[in-house]
Amino acid sequence: MSIRLSSGKEIPIEMHKTRMVQKIRLAPIEERLKAIGDAGYNTFVLKTKDIFLDMLTDSGVNAMSDNQFAGMMNADDAYAGSMTFYEFAEAVEQVLGLKYVMNAHQGRAAEHLLAKVFIKPGDVVPTNYHFTTTKVHIELPNALCLEIYYDEALKTESTNPFKGNMDPQKLKNAITKYGKEKIAFVRMEATTNLIGGQPFSIANLKQIREICDEHGLLLVLDGSLICENAYLIKQRENGYEDRTVGDIVKEMCSLVDLYYMSGRKNTSVRGGMIGTNNKQLFDKIRPWLPVYEGFYTYGGMSMREIGAMTVGMREMVDPTVAGCSVEQIKYFVNRLVEIEIPVVTPPGGLACHLDAMKFLPHIPQHEYPAGALSAALYLSSGIRSMERGTVSMERDKNGREVMADVELTRIAIPRRVYSLSHIEYAIDRINWLHKHRNLVKGLRFVFEPPVLRFFDGRLEPLGNWGRGLVDAYKKEIGEY
Ligand code: F0G
Repeated sequence: MSIRLSSGKEIPIEMHKTRMVQKIRLAPIEERLKAIGDAGYNTFVLKTKDIFLDMLTDSGVNAMSDNQFAGMMNADDAYAGSMTFYEFAEAVEQVLGLKYVMNAHQGRAAEHLLAKVFIKPGDVVPTNYHFTTTKVHIELPNALCLEIYYDEALKTESTNPFKGNMDPQKLKNAITKYGKEKIAFVRMEATTNLIGGQPFSIANLKQIREICDEHGLLLVLDGSLICENAYLIKQRENGYEDRTVGDIVKEMCSLVDLYYMSGRKNTSVRGGMIGTNNKQLFDKIRPWLPVYEGFYTYGGMSMREIGAMTVGMREMVDPTVAGCSVEQIKYFVNRLVEIEIPVVTPPGGLACHLDAMKFLPHIPQHEYPAGALSAALYLSSGIRSMERGTVSMERDKNGREVMADVELTRIAIPRRVYSLSHIEYAIDRINWLHKHRNLVKGLRFVFEPPVLRFFDGRLEPLGNWGRGLVDAYKKEIGEY
């Protein structure tokens, strides 16, 4: 939620109070230089003892509510037939309107099951944009992940409220080109993670539904950030101003054949799920659940997490929960726009995304500007962000580098974790870094894993620029 101050200024306001805390520490900058060097200039490899604000992701790091903890304590730990699973299924039916549900240990496990059942070699999966793990699960069985979006989606500075929309005409063209029998399913991601957490509209989802119906295609929704997408629909789409987030979420689910989500984001736990109202589809997937995940009533999750997820499912559609990070992101992004820092606009539902190609225009894409910016931001603030650019891409079959459409440094906002003063601090250090951007240079891989290399790859700074940046910081700001 946001609130208007008497001065007219609008600020995000927390609709919760803190009742348990975790101490954090701001390491002095020389320690930060050593830590990022030891981590191969990859923020994924940093240890949390060296991190001040952990804004790597909003996944599995949100604050749980008191009722969620109570849900953990009350959980029924049975291997089979746990009542906690049936309570979860009831919550899913009430909140998402989906009758058939199974858990999976997280979002990518749901993707694995869907790929196993629905994707054959040579198939095509049209999507409004790929997510890293999704793409791998589509490509492992030798299918094509086909991104279909409006050109506006890749413009980092924009006023388009729905950059996550799929272009219906391009989808029709793809069906003509590949043939409907080759299309495993059409996938909509709410919100499009890798291009700035941008939402799609209900009007767009309805158009895509119609095309799928016309051609007998399955429509799958990745609802990992469904509540943020719904909150932004309420704020931005004509006719939805007076609808509740819960209503919008239900309408989104009613328009698709299959729904899956990472439970690590909206439900603030560590898990995932697949849901549908189509029993035939459900029955195709279900036999594989005990093979890859676990028995039908736990699907690879701990029952305690399912207990917390049941509560999280009901809480996530509360507008003060659905909007808590959206409002912080809006404030963060708008402040950066005011001071002319290149950032993805309009603000989305996941993070504040710096446009690394504009921030560091002197670094060519093959020297990984978003990775360099992420490392430089850590050095100058102790904030851990995430590279979402070429480092996060897979090489092609011939081992050639595939350049990302956009080079973003993602500063994620976990739900109910950080305060406005943390965000003000981030804005200040980003501003300092922007003024000293010429000190930052590119990176090169020294260890490159064969798949999802961004997780564990190690890089080195070209020309040891970390030292120069640290020296400038110490001279102007000091040790901290
Ligand atoms: N789909 C989307 C849209 C996601 O954002 C994620 C995860 C997944 C699927 C995979 O889910 O992690 O539970 O296996 N996103 C995390 C992130 C990792 O940091 O954005 P998972």
